[in-house]
Order: sequence, then structure tokens, then C-alpha cells
Amino acid sequence: MSESLPEYLQPTWTNYAYILASVLFVFGLKMLSSARTARQGNWVSAVGMLVAVLATLVHAGMSYQWILLGVGVGAAIGYVSAMRVKMTAMPEMVALFNGSGGLASLLVGWAEYHTTPGMHAGVAVPTALAVLIGGITFTGSIVAYAKLAEKLPGKPLLFRGQNWMNLGLLLLSVVLLVSFAWNPPGTYWILGLLIGLSLVLGVLAVIPIGGADMPVVISLLNSYSGVAACAAGFVILNDVLIVAGSLVGASGLILTKIMCKAMNRSLANVLFSGFGSTAAASSGSAVQGEAKPISAEDCYHLLEAARSVLFVPGYGMAVAQAQHVVCELGELLLANGAEVRYAIHPVAGRMPGHMNVLLAEASVPYELLVEPDDVNPGMRTVDLAVVIGANDVVNPAAREDASSPIYGMPIINVDQAKTCIVLKRSLKPGFAGVENALFFCENTRMLFGDAKSSLQAVIAQFKD
Ligand code: TAP
Repeated sequence: MSESLPEYLQPTWTNYAYILASVLFVFGLKMLSSARTARQGNWVSAVGMLVAVLATLVHAGMSYQWILLGVGVGAAIGYVSAMRVKMTAMPEMVALFNGSGGLASLLVGWAEYHTTPGMHAGVAVPTALAVLIGGITFTGSIVAYAKLAEKLPGKPLLFRGQNWMNLGLLLLSVVLLVSFAWNPPGTYWILGLLIGLSLVLGVLAVIPIGGADMPVVISLLNSYSGVAACAAGFVILNDVLIVAGSLVGASGLILTKIMCKAMNRSLANVLFSGFGSTAAASSGSAVQGEAKPISAEDCYHLLEAARSVLFVPGYGMAVAQAQHVVCELGELLLANGAEVRYAIHPVAGRMPGHMNVLLAEASVPYELLVEPDDVNPGMRTVDLAVVIGANDVVNPAAREDASSPIYGMPIINVDQAKTCIVLKRSLKPGFAGVENALFFCENTRMLFGDAKSSLQAVIAQFKD
């Protein structure tokens, strides 16, 4: 029976190892869904990957010198970039990782075309898909990287007829895909066209998205990289690549849905409308008033008297690397008898889970982390909301100003707390470029300066 099966379905040790690796991936992913088990989940998935890589290397009669060369070059580039990257540049690095995954799938499809004389339609379709989706992921991720790194303007780049042009190019790529699958051996030029088109489409798909919509792009590109890898798995008939690619593709889609929900936008709206382009004014209504600065000493007095304190971290906490001092202050407040919680907005920071990772690194107890829906209903009973380098995710314009580009995005309603202290260096807007009326509210006090230095000054008062 097994002799009539193709090799990838044979009951070989390699296939058993692939099943083991797939099971480890699934369990690892499941464990990643809870902060408590995330670290172990990472290890379980990494062991799964090790099993998959070893099984592949041992199984096939491949040219090890090329693999060793690839591992050497890749490891050197990976080591140097990982050592040099600043913590705040991690989101950009993740965008580049996605792009590398897409490029790898494109290259696998391209190479397979060369090594498979007389390719038939069953392989040609996934080959074309790996090339198309891989190419879109590659250049789309480069543009996302450039936007996050501020090498390109963060705002959407829009022009007349953009959506029609993108749709036309997408339809053209489907036509090319079908023509290629029809007669793969004689249509190398079509594959070449498809590669070029995919690279252009990646750029065109991401440039109209910007501002506060970027989280959706990041998670969508992550999903694309998985789908491209899955297609590459079908090209080279590698079961574990198909499973791993599907898992990344599906989890990326779930994350995209979570991000859309966090922005209160539909995916189609994010992809085709351009952030803020439909609003009457690009930065909403003018914000007026006078901000009230506060000193570290007065901040200490407020904290010392507060019975319930809600910390709201944002991108500025990552920039200041203030997570450890935030945790230290939280411990002092707990020791002082206050109720302490940390409210995390899903799009705070620059990558999914950014704040969770930083607070976990500082060993903030998981049970103190809460979501906006948990805290907003009881916000009026919170004595003190302390905003640490967050801006867009606490901007009341999202709730109140219909002309604001972020109108409709659920926020953490810190303006409704009895008192709110905002730690940042200036009154400048956040990533979305929208003025923030929170800074001028009657109950808001601004503790200007680098968040870490400001918190250290407050902690020093506690210890005096
Ligand atoms: P932002 O709105 O970006 O605001 C961060 C604030 O931190 C800035 O206004 C800045 O003000 C302050 N800051 C910077 N360095 C600081 C320092 N050393 N000390 C103190 N404050 C500092 O952050 P957010 O509220 O976390 O919102 C995230 C935004 O990024 C959203 O618009 C979201 O859509 C977008 N985004 C998110 C993601 C993901 S996946 N999470 C990806 C891409 C984009 P000063 O300059 O005045 O200090």
C-alpha cells in the first residue's frame, strides 16, 4: 500500500518527525496566547522548528556545502543586526523579518521552476502563488519598515484612481497566474512578469495605508508571509512547511481581525480608504487650552494619597525604556496600600503585544494587566490615571470629535479618571499626528520630561 504513495505521504521517519514538529508548533502557539505560558510556548515552538530542520537535513540527499554557506551568511547577518538593533527599533525589524519570509518563498518558487522540467499545473499554481504573495509581502514589508523607521512619511500616500489601479493590477496578476498554470514549461516570461508585478503591487498596497492604521498592515503582512510559505510548501511538497505556513497565515489573520476591532474599522476600510482621508480635517478640530505642568514632588503627593492607580503605557515607555521603573513604582504603591493596574491598549506601541512584552520583561504580575473594556466602565472611580508615553490610545478626540481621523477608535478613557498625569516630553501629537485635548483637560497634569527620568524622580521622593 505504502509503495504506491508519493514520497511525502510515506510513513518515513522524516514524516513522523514532521508530525511531531507540527504538534509542537500547535501547542507552542496555544501557549503563546496566555502571558503566563508564553515563554514556555516560545521554547516548545523553537524545539518544533529544530526537529523540523534536523529531519529535513538528515532526510534529503542535498548539497550540504550550499546549506552551510546559507546558514553561515544568514547567521552572521542575523547576529549583527540583532546585536545592533535598538529595542525601540524592534517593530521595524519584525517588518523586515516578514519581508524576508516573503522573499524566501518567492525564491523557492522561482528556483523550483528552473529545477522542474515539464512542470505541471498542480505545481505551477502554488509556484505562481508563492511568487505572487511572496513578492507582495517582500516589498510591502520594506515599505512598512520604511514608514515605521520614519524613512518614508507615516501618512498615507494617496492619488486619484489608486484603488482602481491596484484592482486592475491584481486582476492582471490573476490572469498571468492562470496563463502560467495553463502551460508552465513554455511561459517563463509570464513568471518573470508575475515577479515584477508582485513587487510593484506590494509597494502600491502599503503606501495608501498609514497613521494609526499601521498595526493592521503589520499583522496582515505577517499573515501573507505565512500564506506564501504555505504555497512554497506545496511547491516543494514539504509537509511541515505547509503546516507552519498555514499556522502563521491563520494566526496573522486572527491578529489582523483583533487589530481592526481595536481600531473599530473594517479591513476593507483600512485597506482602501486611506487613514484620515475621509475626515473633514486631517488632524481634527483645533485643540485649545493651557496645559498644567506638575513637578515630580507634587506627582509623588498625588500618588501617595491615591487609593487606586491605573498605569497606561504607550510607545514613549518603550522609547524611554521605563518599564522597570514603572514596575518599581507600582510595587511602592502596592506596598502603600493602593490598588494598582496596568491598562494595555491593543495598538499601543509599534507592534502587536509591544507593551505586554515590555511589562513582562520588567516582571509586572500578569494579573495586574487589564484591557480597555475592563477599566473603562469604572474609570470615574479611578483616583489617578498615569499615562506613560501614550498619546493616540488615550486621545478623547477618538470618542468625541467626528472630524478627527481617529474618530471611532476605542481608547482608554483616562480623561474620565478623577485625576490624570501624563508623562511625555512635550505637547507634540503621537504617531497618528492628531492633537490631544487630554493634555488641556481640567483634571490633567503634565509631568514633562523623559518618562524614565521623571519616574525615577518620583520614586526618589517615595524613598526619601
Ligand atoms: P503614540 O501615539 O505614538 O505616542 C507616543 C508618545 O510618546 C509621543 O507623543 C511622545 O511624546 C512620547 N514619548 C516619546 N519618547 C518619550 C520619552 N522618552 N519619554 C516620555 N514620552 C515619550 O503612542 P501610543 O499611544 O502607544 O499609540 C500607538 C500609535 O502607533 C497608534 O496610533 C497606533 O495605531 C500606531 N501604531 C501601532 C502599531 C502596533 S502594531 N501597535 C504599529 C504601527 C503604528 P513626546 O515626543 O512629547 O515625548
